[in-house]
Amino acid sequence: MTNEKLAIGIILGSTRQGRVSPQVGEWVKGIADKRGDAAYEIVDIADFNLPFVGAGTGEEAGLKAWVEKISNLDGYVFIAQEYNHSITGALKNAIDSAYAEWNNKAAGIVSYGSTGGARAAEHLRGILGELQVADVRNHPTLSLFTDFENFSEFKPAELHDANVNGMLDQVISWSTALKSVR
Ligand SMILES: Cc1cc2nc3c(=O)[nH]c(=O)nc-3n(C[C@H](O)[C@H](O)[C@H](O)COP(=O)(O)O)c2cc1C
Repeated sequence: MTNEKLAIGIILGSTRQGRVSPQVGEWVKGIADKRGDAAYEIVDIADFNLPFVGAGTGEEAGLKAWVEKISNLDGYVFIAQEYNHSITGALKNAIDSAYAEWNNKAAGIVSYGSTGGARAAEHLRGILGELQVADVRNHPTLSLFTDFENFSEFKPAELHDANVNGMLDQVISWSTALKSVR
């Protein structure tokens, strides 16, 4: 093991036009960067132009870049929005587009929706279990009704800052530990 800083990707789970996930991701990154305990970066699925799993040649540059990105990260924070009581199809497809690269890493979840995105987050936990990603307990849940204005302008309640830090404490702890497993 080296003393290099952990690389933690903040993965934006939605790709739709008009999405709010970049605002949420930047807010998490702002809190994370103040900690100085890892190299945090936003990872936007939309940038990779991923084909549906199995529908392409497997040689697409975006797919290769995605797999390499997931491989190079030590841990993840999923920005998960609730679509029909689950995660987005885009996030599921992106997750399915890699396998071994996810294994023995840690992840936190920041979710949002009408009920804090709780149902989407619980689905995501089941998926992460299959990928041998250790999902941490602490889980900031953001309400579309009280943490956003007009469901579009992100104005998080102050209490969530402590929740994000609590989640990151666990992601850093487990990401550090799992490095020794890999
Ligand atoms: C197809 C679709 C389904 C949705 N289903 C739910 C839902 O089941 N529960 C919920 O709380 N919000 C639901 N929403 C609202 C989204 O959580 C909300 O639009 C949120 O801003 C989506 O995240 P995004 O802006 O990053 O794409 C749904 C939105 C879409 C587009």
